[in-house]
Amino acid sequence: MNDTFLSFGLHRPPSDPSLHLEAVSLNAVARDYGTPCFVYSKAAILAAYQEYCHAFQGFSPLICYAVKANANLAILRLLARQGAGFDIVSGGELYRVLKAGGEAQKVVFSGVGKSIKDMDEALMAGILCFNVESSAELRRLAERAQVLGVRAPISVRVNPEVDAQTHPYIATGLRSSKFGVDAATARRLYREAADSAYLRVVGIDCHIGSQITTLEPFLEATDKILELVHQLEQDGISLDHIDLGGGVGIHYQNETPPALINYALALSQRLHDFKGRLLFEPGRRIVGNAGVLLTRVEYLKDIPDRQLAIVDAGMNDLMRPSLYHAWHDIVAVEERSVTTSSLVDVVGPVCESSDILGTQRNLALEQGDLLAILSAGAYGSSMGSQYNARPKPPELLVDGDTVTLIRQRETYDDLIRHENVGD
Ligand code: LLP
Repeated sequence: MNDTFLSFGLHRPPSDPSLHLEAVSLNAVARDYGTPCFVYSKAAILAAYQEYCHAFQGFSPLICYAVKANANLAILRLLARQGAGFDIVSGGELYRVLKAGGEAQKVVFSGVGKSIKDMDEALMAGILCFNVESSAELRRLAERAQVLGVRAPISVRVNPEVDAQTHPYIATGLRSSKFGVDAATARRLYREAADSAYLRVVGIDCHIGSQITTLEPFLEATDKILELVHQLEQDGISLDHIDLGGGVGIHYQNETPPALINYALALSQRLHDFKGRLLFEPGRRIVGNAGVLLTRVEYLKDIPDRQLAIVDAGMNDLMRPSLYHAWHDIVAVEERSVTTSSLVDVVGPVCESSDILGTQRNLALEQGDLLAILSAGAYGSSMGSQYNARPKPPELLVDGDTVTLIRQRETYDDLIRHENVGD
């Protein structure tokens, strides 16, 4: 095990060398709650949030946690209590934030396809800002604000056309991306918004992609945004905030993600003229390394040239390896005292050849062994489905030696709750 891995609350106490999260044995969690299950460390989530607050404290930041990364109510509440804001992309996410005790005044609304219903709900709730992504969206938003007799606070999401050097499915700032608008269009939209009685310009926004492990793309994007901010000033438009989005990467395999303090230092050299505050929309960096997916080996199976460990978690529970060929470290909760381990492919029970959680892993395994799939706190449960009629797994939040069930394991009844057999 390397140090990065140890620092997120996972460790093997000398007295009991099985894997623990904070002071809780993952063996005990599996015994009490069954597998598969997601287990998160409260301390790791708080530490990641605090890293943002401390690094950017000179910019009066508002850290708007990207709900899509992990939308569990308990996690939202934990962050709301720390004073976090939220980045949402749907009326459903707004509903979750408000249910969890989040403040509408700290919510920014991203996304290219906001429906009338989404807009109306957010306008009535009184959110901080709509991150507008097209001319048609700006028009619709002004119309809805007029109908509801309110003024909609807006930022324009600018596509700074930088290459975030990440997986193409999670890069959003390329020229060809569906997200945001180019700088010239943004300037036009700002003039339109400034002239509207139903819109109020409050900020500017960009988000260039996800799992970005160097600072350069962020700084390149910031420079382009600042250029536009200056042009807007010439147009007589001043902004309360600059929202630099999320996207800072985490450790999955051998990445060395940037320390936020270095991001903050680089920004302070660029932002001395800006009097407003900074917003960020981190998701993965807050919860990604804070959680594991626990799973049990159902069978070992040899096929030509390969050994398989067939486990009870599948692509429906953790879609990232199938969808992006993403790497998640996989470790045995109880390490076997054998000197030889072998390379195994860890696969799930779902009837799809792409149901692979990890290939060619160096593990010594027997049937029934418990495995922890690491860095599963972000885009794990939130992207999960019931495919193959598999009830969604429970989620547990560990705090010291206490375990709280923050989502129950779904039942078969949950699978059919909204269906009707008809005649
Ligand atoms: N803001 C906006 C507008 C976004 O679209 C996203 C993520 C975020 C913030 C948060 O990004 P983060 O800090 O988590 O990188 N399912 C993929 C990731 C998709 C990210 C989508 N947008 C994955 O599992 O890697």
